[in-house]
Amino acid sequence: MKVGIDMGATSKGTSALLDLEELLATRLLVQGNSGSGKSHLLRRLLEQSAPWVQQCVIDPEGDFVTLAEKFGHVVVDAVRTEAELTRIAGRIRQHRVSVVLNLEGLDVEQQMRAAAAFLGGMFDADRDHWYPVLVVVDEAQLFAPAVAGEVSDEARKISLGAMTNLMCRGRKRGLAGVIATQRLAKLAKNVAAEASNFLMGRTFLDIDMARAADLLGMERRQAEMFRDLGRGHFVALGPAVSRRPLPITIGTVETSPRSVSPKLMPLPEASDDARDLIFKPGADEARPLVRRPPPPPTPTPTADILAQLSRPRPQPEASAEPMFPVFDEAERDALIDTVMRGILDDPDAAFRSVAVLYQDFLVRCRISRVPGEPLPLVGFRRKLAVARAGVDKETASGETWQQALALSESLTDDIQGVFLIVAQSAVSGEPCPSDAALARAYGSHSPSRARRLLTYFEEQGLLVVRTDFRGSRIVAFPDLGCETAPGDPNRPDELAGDRTAAE
Ligand SMILES: Nc1ncnc2c1ncn2[C@@H]1O[C@H](COP(=O)(O)OP(=O)(O)OP(=O)(O)O)[C@@H](O)[C@H]1O
Ligand SMILES: [Mg+2]
Repeated sequence: MKVGIDMGATSKGTSALLDLEELLATRLLVQGNSGSGKSHLLRRLLEQSAPWVQQCVIDPEGDFVTLAEKFGHVVVDAVRTEAELTRIAGRIRQHRVSVVLNLEGLDVEQQMRAAAAFLGGMFDADRDHWYPVLVVVDEAQLFAPAVAGEVSDEARKISLGAMTNLMCRGRKRGLAGVIATQRLAKLAKNVAAEASNFLMGRTFLDIDMARAADLLGMERRQAEMFRDLGRGHFVALGPAVSRRPLPITIGTVETSPRSVSPKLMPLPEASDDARDLIFKPGADEARPLVRRPPPPPTPTPTADILAQLSRPRPQPEASAEPMFPVFDEAERDALIDTVMRGILDDPDAAFRSVAVLYQDFLVRCRISRVPGEPLPLVGFRRKLAVARAGVDKETASGETWQQALALSESLTDDIQGVFLIVAQSAVSGEPCPSDAALARAYGSHSPSRARRLLTYFEEQGLLVVRTDFRGSRIVAFPDLGCETAPGDPNRPDELAGDRTAAE
C-alpha cells in the first residue's frame, strides 16, 4: 500500500509528499537550529500519518501530549521505574497503541534512562508483535550525544545503545526512527548515519553545515543554502521524499504545542513602587512556606536489580565462616568461560541485544553455581566482545593482543566486538573476515553496515584497509605492527548458515 504523507508545499507549488512505506524502511533525520520549525514539522508528520501507522513520540519537553485529545495518543508519564517503562513499551507493541512518552520534569540523566528503558522494551518485543511503528525522537542529541557530557558514563552508554539499536537494527523489528536535532555536530555520528532521508532546516554553524553536507553528499559550498532558510522551510532529500535536494515549506498543524515562541508585548506603565512590587510579598502569597517534596528516588537500573537477585543469599550463621567466601578464582573463570561458550554456541546469540544475553548469562551462572559476585554488565560486555573474537589461549596472553584490547577501549561497547574480530585475525595472521562475518559480530545481517564500521575504524586511525589485485581485503594495524592475510570480503558466513543467504 502506497501512502503519501502531505508535509506541505514544494517550491513549485505541488504537495510535498513523504512516502510512508519507504520512510518506515529508510528512517528520517531532521536538523535545524532552535526555532527553525523542527517540532512543528514532526507534529505535521505525526498528525498526517496518525490514521496510517502506530506512533511513539519520545518527548523531552512534554510538547506533544496535545496529540492525545485529537488523535487518541496515550500519554505515558515517565516518572516510573525503568522495569515498568520497559513492560509498558512491550504492551504498546502488542496492542498497537500510539503513545507519547512524556519526559518533562526529569533531569537529563533520568530522561536518558527512561527513554532507553522504553526504547529497549519496544526493541525487545516479541517477534509476533513486530508491527510497524514510527518512533519519533525530538531533541535526539540528548539521547545520542556525540561526546560525553555531565551525565554518568553508564547513562550515556545505555541511552546511546538504545538509540543505536533504534536507528541501526530497528527496521527488521518494525521500528522506524524519525529523529530531530538542533545541532548535527552534537548527535552521535553512527545514529545520524543510519537515516537515509533528511529534512534540513536553517543552520548557522559551519561545523553543522559541514556535517550536513557530508551526510547529504553535497559540496560544502552548496550547503551554504541552509543558512538562508526561513522558519518552516526545509530542504528534503532521500528515497522517501526526493532523489534530489528539494526545498519544501511545512504546512499547518491541527494541534498546538504546549510551549509557544515568546511574542513581544508592550511593557506595563512604569511605576514608582517597582521596588515594593518585587520585594514585598503579595496578598496571595501570605500562605505559610510550602516545603518542596523531596525529589523522587532515582529508579534502580534493571541490570542492577538482576545482579542483586543473582547474588547468593547471606548465610545466617556467618560467625564460624570466614568473612569472605573462599573460592578458587581460576575455577570461577573457567565456569564463566563455559557459560559464555554455551551462550555463543546458540546461533541466534549474535542477533540478540546485550541486555537479553546478559539476563541469559546471569541465569546460566546461577544454574552452573558460579561462585562469587555476578559479573557486572560492563564486564559481561567486555567478555562477550573478547569471546566473539575467538582468541586462543596463547594469543590471548601475548602482548600484541593486550595492546589490541587497549585500542578497542576507545570505541563504544557495541562495536568493540567487530574491531576485536578483525584484530584477532591480524594478530594470528589469519585471512581478513568477510563482510557477512563482521555483520554477524555486530548483530546485523547487513554487510554494508560491516563495511561502514571498517571505514569508521579507519577514520579513527585504528587500522588501514587495502585491497590486493585479486580483490581480497587486507587490514593492517599500524599500532600493533601486524596485518591480516588477504580475505575475500564477499565470502558467505559459514556460522550464520542459511540465514545470510536467505537475507
Ligand atoms: N511551518 C510553520 N508554519 C507556521 N508556524 C511555524 C512553522 N514552523 C514553525 N512554526 C512556529 O515557529 C515556532 C518555532 O517552531 P518549533 O518549536 O517547531 O521550532 P524548533 O525547531 O523545534 O525549535 P527548538 O529546537 O528550540 O525546539 C513555533 O511557535 C511554531 O509554531
Ligand atoms: Mg523543538
